[in-house]
Amino acid sequence: MDKAKDLYIVILAAGKGTRMHSRLPKVLQPLAHLPLLEHVINTALTLSPKKVVVVYGHGGDLVPSRLSHLPVSWVEQKEQLGTGHAVQQAMPEVPLKANVLILYGDVPLTSSSTLTNLVHKLGETCSLAVLTAILDDPSGYGRIIRNSDGEVLYIIEHKDANDEQRAVREINTGILAADSSSMAAWLSSISNNNVQGEYYLTDIIGLAVESKVNVKTSHPESLWEILGVNDKRQLADLERQYQLIQANTLLSLGVTLRDPSRLECRGEIQVGKDVEIDVGVVLEGKVSIADNVYIGPYCHISDALIGEGASIQSHTVIDKANIGPGSIVGPFARIRPETVLVENCHIGNFVEIKKSTVGKGSKINHLSYIGDTEVGDKVNIGAGTITCNYDGANKYKTVIGDGAFIGSDTQLVAPVTIGAGATIGAGSTITKDTAADKLTLSRSKQITIDGWKRPEKK
Ligand code: UD1
Ligand code: MG
Repeated sequence: MDKAKDLYIVILAAGKGTRMHSRLPKVLQPLAHLPLLEHVINTALTLSPKKVVVVYGHGGDLVPSRLSHLPVSWVEQKEQLGTGHAVQQAMPEVPLKANVLILYGDVPLTSSSTLTNLVHKLGETCSLAVLTAILDDPSGYGRIIRNSDGEVLYIIEHKDANDEQRAVREINTGILAADSSSMAAWLSSISNNNVQGEYYLTDIIGLAVESKVNVKTSHPESLWEILGVNDKRQLADLERQYQLIQANTLLSLGVTLRDPSRLECRGEIQVGKDVEIDVGVVLEGKVSIADNVYIGPYCHISDALIGEGASIQSHTVIDKANIGPGSIVGPFARIRPETVLVENCHIGNFVEIKKSTVGKGSKINHLSYIGDTEVGDKVNIGAGTITCNYDGANKYKTVIGDGAFIGSDTQLVAPVTIGAGATIGAGSTITKDTAADKLTLSRSKQITIDGWKRPEKK
């Protein structure tokens, strides 16, 4: 590639996507929780382009407004008159003497290396390079027509092709790279004199050949890289493909996956050594998993740090929380935002923790709600303990000192502080601060009533 030339990337995203049967524009349909177009933009940005220009149209401003956080320029194509017309709309954003790469907003899984290989074809002797592929079933695609020396002559769209042309199995993926000055010149001479009455971008290939340009081609590393999304079936297929890529990445980093086809990664996952992940796990957002972590079946973990040696047992839900090293969480635990389990904590079944810190070695093993609470070190919280943190209008804090023991079925009515080393008798409702190192309980004395009889049915 001509190193002196800047790279500009144009992404075509103006099409309607009728077959999705959705109010959401096609390029905003999610793949692993990110809009299709965002995948394409993210890949484009890995090529360090001078500028990325996105041509939008159908769906109006919804597309640019949803993706306004991305560093791209937006150009509207008011009427969708064809791929050539779409690129024309973007050309004012692309200077002469640059390289321009054309991508589609509904083709989300093209790899950076496939695109880099294509762009590298451009240079002194080549001002147009097309990404092509050989398909068993090429129907619907534009066909690459070559002469007997194997040189590209032109592209014919399926709808415009005769039987002999349709028999060609080499297809146009739609992705191409060109010198921008030549591109601008070719685009100015295309017409819409074809079956679909559209301005075809593909007509520039024939024009390039007429002006004696040597058109080069390259292939994607894998066929799924060029697959586009037109309906929910194809979206589902690409989602599976994407998930398999994520799973393979984790395997290549040494993670043990019980079944690579039963893991969902919808974000950025960092992993340490000797991590084991069982089936049905969903990882979302930024999840960082340290060495020797075990994640059991059917856990849902989003935006979390899982510390070294932690064991997350089956059916646990963790959201925006920090699970300290050596902790055991679950099965069936729910750890909600702003929770920190400092170290070696044990959180058992049907325990919900929200916006709380749990100190080293503390245990909350059964059926509890702990919210807006600071739990010290080595605290034991008995089954069925509830922090009553909300009076219907405001939230209040509970503080539980180091070494405290909270008996089962206790309500701690916040704001309240349990002294260090305090013991709370089972079944208490604690409304006032309790003394350190002493037993406090609030239940009435057990009595037996003589002569009492069970009511009988009349
Ligand atoms: C196009 C190619 C065909 C190739 C195929 C690969 C042309 C003429 N044909 O055909 O050779 O095999 O892709 O999938 O280029 N778009 C706009 N504005 C428009 C028209 C399209 O932004 O006015 C966008 C669409 O949203 C889509 C992309 O361009 O992302 C391709 O358009 P589409 O209509 O799907 O082209 P095909 O007929 O599939
Ligand atoms: Mg198409």
